[in-house]
Amino acid sequence: MMVSLDKAPIVESGPAGPSYRRLRLKAPEVARSAEPGQFLHIRCAPPDRLDPLLRRPLSLHRIDPAGEWIEVLFRVVGRGTSYLAGLRPGDVADVIGPLGRGFPTDLGPGAKPIIVGGGIGVAPLVALAERFRGRGTPALVLVGAQTAAGLAALDVLGEAADELLVTTDDGSSGRPGFVTEALGERLTGEPAAVIYACGPEAMLQRVQGMVGTRRAYFSLETRMACGVGACLGCAVRASGAGPGYLRVCHDGPVFGAREVIIGG
Ligand SMILES: Cc1cc2nc3c(=O)[nH]c(=O)nc-3n(C[C@H](O)[C@H](O)[C@H](O)COP(=O)(O)OP(=O)(O)OC[C@H]3O[C@@H](n4cnc5c(N)ncnc54)[C@H](O)[C@@H]3O)c2cc1C
Ligand code: FES
Repeated sequence: MMVSLDKAPIVESGPAGPSYRRLRLKAPEVARSAEPGQFLHIRCAPPDRLDPLLRRPLSLHRIDPAGEWIEVLFRVVGRGTSYLAGLRPGDVADVIGPLGRGFPTDLGPGAKPIIVGGGIGVAPLVALAERFRGRGTPALVLVGAQTAAGLAALDVLGEAADELLVTTDDGSSGRPGFVTEALGERLTGEPAAVIYACGPEAMLQRVQGMVGTRRAYFSLETRMACGVGACLGCAVRASGAGPGYLRVCHDGPVFGAREVIIGG
């Protein structure tokens, strides 16, 4: 895997719905080698400051098929993401990437991709949906959020998906209820579906209980320090034999649904 340390100029910056921001960065080396599901480790301080010291992980939200730019989509929650929200075209971001293991996209004969996102969990799933669309096997995409304000990237997902189904817990947009209820209905009669999911822990636990014998992959988020497998700061419990813990930054962030204990 080729990983680059890049000074990536911002080419676009703006809100993405009421709760999120989107940055487009010119980063050809990352864009040419990245797989959906991989992430960037971004420095979130001005060049002359060391605080905050730790980089912040953000998923590759979109990967330019022509290999020039990448995008990230994020929720502003603290100092790092506030710094990124203040960047404007012409500013330069310091990024390391692409890091981690992405989503396996070999579907096998007759298999249909089903993508399930919750809240900001849609961030990496857009690159995945666009990859499937580019290959001529567009996915069924289900996205949910607590309220309409928590939905993001519906414009690009609508273009990329074979069919896009939206739910909100309070019914303020799309179908009322959890996205996993809609998933349960759509899985009936789809024994060969390959499921891809990213979202809050409770959502992933529910999806884990629904996959049955199907292939399924989850992208996990944990707090990270080094981002490259050295500090064990991002460990999650493995479910099978072998090492008791897996590192989200190095062994993931994408795992087979039976590889990890979600919330363990
Ligand atoms: C592999 C990976 C990919 C990610 N991709 C995205 C993405 O595409 N878009 C996005 O918005 N976020 C993503 N995250 C989460 C993102 O890294 C954190 O929101 C970010 O580090 C927060 O930094 P901060 O300095 O703004 O907030 P901090 O000051 O560090 O934290 C503020 C609060 O945010 C919450 N928080 C911080 N980090 C995380 C985390 N990793 N998971 C859950 N809650 C957290 C905590 O409640 C914390 O108290 C990803 C995380 C991982 C591990
Ligand atoms: S963040 Fe250091 S091992 Fe994953």
